[in-house]
Amino acid sequence: MEAFFIQPARRLEGVIPVRGAKNSILKAMAASLLFRTPFLIDNVPHIVDYQQMENLLVSAGVLVERVGERQVRLTPPRHPESTLDPEVAQSFRSSVVLIGPLLARTGKAVFPYPGGCVIGKRPIDLFLEGLARMGALVREENGIFTLSAKRLIGADIFFRKVSVTATETLMMAAVLARGKTVLSNAAREPEIPALAEFLNLCGARISGAGTSTITIRGGAKLDGARRVFRIIPDRVEAGSFAILAALRGGRLRVANCVPEHLAGLLAALREAGVFIECGKDWVEITAPKQLFPVNVQTREYPGFVTDFQSPFMVLLTQAVGMSTVFETIYEGRLEYTRDLNRMGAEIILCDPHRAIVVGPTPLFGRVVESPDLRAGLAFILAALVAKGPSTVQHIYHIDRGYERIEERLCDVGADIKRVACAG
Ligand code: EPU
Repeated sequence: MEAFFIQPARRLEGVIPVRGAKNSILKAMAASLLFRTPFLIDNVPHIVDYQQMENLLVSAGVLVERVGERQVRLTPPRHPESTLDPEVAQSFRSSVVLIGPLLARTGKAVFPYPGGCVIGKRPIDLFLEGLARMGALVREENGIFTLSAKRLIGADIFFRKVSVTATETLMMAAVLARGKTVLSNAAREPEIPALAEFLNLCGARISGAGTSTITIRGGAKLDGARRVFRIIPDRVEAGSFAILAALRGGRLRVANCVPEHLAGLLAALREAGVFIECGKDWVEITAPKQLFPVNVQTREYPGFVTDFQSPFMVLLTQAVGMSTVFETIYEGRLEYTRDLNRMGAEIILCDPHRAIVVGPTPLFGRVVESPDLRAGLAFILAALVAKGPSTVQHIYHIDRGYERIEERLCDVGADIKRVACAG
């Protein structure tokens, strides 16, 4: 097992580049099952979830070849395996996005209930209901689901809840289905239009991606020859760096990002008194002398998204006054605040969704365990702000979505070491 040993940071300065988005590449890879020809993916982040998805695709018969430092070529098989390797599929939530393409392509998908970060209930009812509306027969036995449909048929599907992965899964399935599918109350995260644009380039007919109504005309024959899916910058990584800069800049430039994708967060940072300058593909943050309290409520994109809730919480512990945080998306995503309190924060959990933060309180270095990907990064931020060294354990959660985070933060002035630890 590995851990991060983190010294307090005085000032972080310079330029920190953002890598390709985890939540985009995983869907780009899943889409390979819709194809009969190879295509390339560029701007590949070196993260554990990428590797997990590669393992799953390989077990389904896809040939995955690295053709450069940040490029891979995916060659789909003539007859993909319909059964996902249960051990790998269970280990990360995004495995569920494969079920749409797999079912559409092979007429069958066999998979276990997907696992992943422990941040609350992560049901798959919207996926199952949507695919059933497209004609799939759904069976479940001992935790293994089997979906079958000779040919999916386009349908009008209204999502009772806005879900990113359910939108992506059904959008992909609809590309090969017969007839027209309309997805209403769809998610609008930037990863969705990115996926749709690439599929359209290869022959799909998707309109409205990035809005809450997506129309897909099915029956496409996708051709990926000479096509490259360039993965968009990771907006969660970019935003987390911006929050860190607000806490410990100097002046820090977050490069290779799309400022527009960060609008919800940047508004909250401005409210907290942070100075922000934006260019075409960068954001420059200057930490203020004093941070002001802010009341935030997590929302679907383009609002203040749930993935920023934990790093922003760390910032609020340093704001002068009382802030409130309302996590509306997941009911298990405030648990990590107990460890922030052990570090010296004063966060009152009112219920599983609501917290009051009283600041500023000095934070003190402690040994903490990363409970999930985003809270893990929040602990790194807290450790950089704290007095005295900290150890963040269970960093495999962090490696799932952030490429060599310690090296990149050290490049702008942090002192973080990856160390071996027992247990
Ligand atoms: N939901 C249902 N039924 C479903 C699916 C979702 O009720 O069938 C509910 C969830 O319980 C939750 C809400 O809908 O309350 C939103 O969940 P969503 O499905 O949007 O989450 P997701 O698609 O599983 C993606 C990201 C998450 C990010 C959320 C923001 C991927 C792989 N994951 O998750 O990212 O927090 O959208 O909504 O794209 C992360 O990267 O660490 C991460 C957790």
